[in-house]
Amino acid sequence: MKIQAYDVKNSSEAQEVCKYVKMCSRNGAKAYVHSFGCQLNVSDGEKIKGILSALGFSFTEDYKKADLILLNTCAVRESAEDTVYGTLGNMKKYKKDNPGVIIVLCGCMASEPATIETVKNHYPFVDILFGTSALSQLPKLLLEHYEGKKLAYDMAEYKEEFGADDQIRESSFKASVPIMFGCNNFCTYCIVPYVRGRERSRSAEVIIKEVEELAAKGYKEIMLLGQNVNSYGKDLPDGITFAQLLRRLNEIEGDFWIRFMSSHPKDAGTDLLDAVLECEKVEKHLHLPVQCGSNSVLRRMNRHYTAEKYLEIVDYLRERHEGFAMSSDIMVGFPNETEEEFEDTLKLVENVKYDNIFTFIYSKRSGTKAAEMDDAVTDAEKRVRMERLLKLQREVATENYKRFIGRTVRVLVEGESKQGAGWLFGKSSEYTIVEFKGDRSLIGTFADVKITDSKNWAVSGELV
Ligand code: 5AD
Ligand code: SF4
Repeated sequence: MKIQAYDVKNSSEAQEVCKYVKMCSRNGAKAYVHSFGCQLNVSDGEKIKGILSALGFSFTEDYKKADLILLNTCAVRESAEDTVYGTLGNMKKYKKDNPGVIIVLCGCMASEPATIETVKNHYPFVDILFGTSALSQLPKLLLEHYEGKKLAYDMAEYKEEFGADDQIRESSFKASVPIMFGCNNFCTYCIVPYVRGRERSRSAEVIIKEVEELAAKGYKEIMLLGQNVNSYGKDLPDGITFAQLLRRLNEIEGDFWIRFMSSHPKDAGTDLLDAVLECEKVEKHLHLPVQCGSNSVLRRMNRHYTAEKYLEIVDYLRERHEGFAMSSDIMVGFPNETEEEFEDTLKLVENVKYDNIFTFIYSKRSGTKAAEMDDAVTDAEKRVRMERLLKLQREVATENYKRFIGRTVRVLVEGESKQGAGWLFGKSSEYTIVEFKGDRSLIGTFADVKITDSKNWAVSGELV
């Protein structure tokens, strides 16, 4: 499916909305935009800001100063949804005192069909609701709202996309570039395929042009985003693969790093691993979510690989690049996970020696296959398992990070560290947090740091 570019600034609705925005706020309209959840959602939030800016809004970090409050939601776990409903609860009084304020709900949670009814019944003060692929419809929905519609919503799947110009980026040196949307995998626990739809890849030409522009503007890290980046290109007529895309991006002129997430172990073939190893701009770190180390649980999750296959990938990388860094998402307490199955996850974590893991207790998402599975494991047991996993990972990381001591690493300096006055932090090509003393003017540039010390979550050293 070819994805069309959409010129939001020049749509007829946009011009009408601009007039209303000017009319409704004499001192300049302000919007508060908050994105929950993953990097893709943050990227959507940047595009939404681009649209709102074209419509005449500037931005505030304080929702109490806003004429429009937009919550870009996440649905991946129940706790994420609870946070959104909690935030909406706080907005209720604000809206009552300030009836002119526009409240917008979008993102993954807003893409679940049941949310329309929940909003109508429990949060009637929400004015606009739209799904993850309907960003381009925001001007139309705002117009409907200004013309008096009670709840303006659109949950349809649109194929348009926005150019980079329409995006307001949070950082001046790190940029994310979505390369595909949606997911076809249907892991049995995951709501994503239901709320973000089937896989759609952006054309390689558009992605390359966007990265060229970012590199020319001096961006130092480009993060390629997709729910499952190794499926990139499968739906495109020219048959380009993700590995080929990486190689083409690596040829772009400029001093910058390329990073990507997330990839799926079932599709991490040697063509991809070789591209990561051989392209000098691609960071020497792979975020490869394993989810768990038990083959029987992996089958119940519909993941299509085994723990042995996963370990082969790790060996392949480390045989060719010593100390190649791995990170992962790991889930504890999948329905009916036995003690033995959980211990297989501990074994895998010990074997892989991750630098970093993102851990989650399984959360039941209605509509998914796993939601129908029996589960005899108690919440208390799941919490105990999580503690055991975190304790092991702390030990593993303490050992891992010692490998950096004595080495000089190149660091992209990101900001001031909480370590104390004069301390900065950044990340190495292994995506390791590096702390050191230096001048603020280094933020947003590359610096060489000689590592002298390590902890279980970071290393520290001296500027060379
Ligand atoms: N419960 C807990 N964690 C989940 N994830 C996805 N769905 C669920 C769920 N239902 C985790 C997976 C995924 C990460 C983004 O979120 O580990 O890789
Ligand atoms: Fe969800 Fe699996 Fe797709 Fe990742 S690969 S978004 S976990 S269905």
